[in-house]
Amino acid sequence: MADTKMTSDRRDFLKQTAQFAVGLAASGSLPGIAESQAQSAGQAARAFPKGFLWGGATAAHQVEGNNINSDLWLIEHLKDSTFREPSGDACDHYHLYEQDINMLADLGLTAYRFSIEWARIEPERGYFSQAELQHYRRMLEACHRRNIIPLVTYSHFTVPRWFAMDGAWENPESSSLFANYCERATRSLGDLTAYAATFNEPDIPHLLHWIILPGDKPGSSLVEQMAAGKDAMRRQLNAPRFSSFLFGDAEKSRQNMLSAHEKGKAAIKSVRSNLPVGFTLAMEDDQPAAADSHVEQKRADVYGPWLKLAKKDDYMGVQTYTRSLVAAKNLPPPAGAELTQMGYEFYPESLEHTIRYASKETGVPVIVTENGVATEDDRKRVEYIQRALQGVKRCLADGIDVRGYVQWSLLDNFEWTFGYMPKFGLVAVDRETQKRTPKPSAAFLGNIARNNSI
Ligand code: BGC
Repeated sequence: MADTKMTSDRRDFLKQTAQFAVGLAASGSLPGIAESQAQSAGQAARAFPKGFLWGGATAAHQVEGNNINSDLWLIEHLKDSTFREPSGDACDHYHLYEQDINMLADLGLTAYRFSIEWARIEPERGYFSQAELQHYRRMLEACHRRNIIPLVTYSHFTVPRWFAMDGAWENPESSSLFANYCERATRSLGDLTAYAATFNEPDIPHLLHWIILPGDKPGSSLVEQMAAGKDAMRRQLNAPRFSSFLFGDAEKSRQNMLSAHEKGKAAIKSVRSNLPVGFTLAMEDDQPAAADSHVEQKRADVYGPWLKLAKKDDYMGVQTYTRSLVAAKNLPPPAGAELTQMGYEFYPESLEHTIRYASKETGVPVIVTENGVATEDDRKRVEYIQRALQGVKRCLADGIDVRGYVQWSLLDNFEWTFGYMPKFGLVAVDRETQKRTPKPSAAFLGNIARNNSI
């Protein structure tokens, strides 16, 4: 069968990807390096390892549209919702995925990171939709048709409504429920998946405790507002146990999610033992801002338990957007710093620092599964990519095992509570017509991918 053939080709390719090629670059034996000694040295210095992944990322709820069985759809439509606007049709990627995957391939990229939506696959507890599993299978087939390596995230923030009604990640049963979903999804999709991630950024609730937003006062911090928001939601929904990833009890949820990762990974491996499994982490480039900085406490609090778990994984996904200056908590960006649409400091070098940290702490291969910038000025995105990739190059030159770079995001999309305002996309989306227009940064990254070199 064509599928089987494609899968074994894919495995060979993955094997190649796994053969870390920095040594090749150093010895000048990368294909295509022939000219003069000087040119050869220059090219080798700019080249990335053979098989390095060049990708764009999306997440189901942010692009598919009409994710009506999810917890966040419900929350978006509550009175006084914390969301600026509802996700609605989003980018209608649910229907337009093939066009989007072809576009990503035409740009020159080699990998697509996307998430499958648990709320669609298991819309009622114990009821699995074959039609939805087939939908995601068709997405994977579309990737394979274009030789695009698929990186699949099983849970990118959203969960099914029924799961939220039962307390989401605060529910002691949550890890087994998640593992069951992982097993069912892998049975339908595992043979076509190249890399699996159980969770996207499960450390976010703890990270939020370190962030102080402008206007935050004791008693009104983001975390306190969210906790109050959860109580209001429970009342409105008349659902006393309702909870959700971003609004839940961070500590309880983390214990269950750590266990859900382990059980989920075992479930995935029980179906396809050689499928690389990991998770992705939100990592700020934490820099001490005072002699008594709490940087180490922050690292231990936010990333600690996850980094410990990652040591046993096949790879780890690093997701970085900016740096944080840490005193007792994160400080606001320095006065006069250039800010992105998210209010983050424009600081592309942050990625190099988090890759180094993640690799040192875990010892497993790193894939940059998200990196990017929210801006209306696409020239800034080009600059951001260029500077971030120079950092990745320096990591590679030091022998750090980095397997790929995936931009957040392929498309301008639904940025959670911020709605559609922030523009993270390599490609603009007209939300009336759903017309896609690649920005110059898309061609810029595509060109780097084609040359496998900066
Ligand atoms: C998340 C994405 C999000 C991006 C930009 C990451 O925290 O995984 O879903 O859109 O950052 O804020």
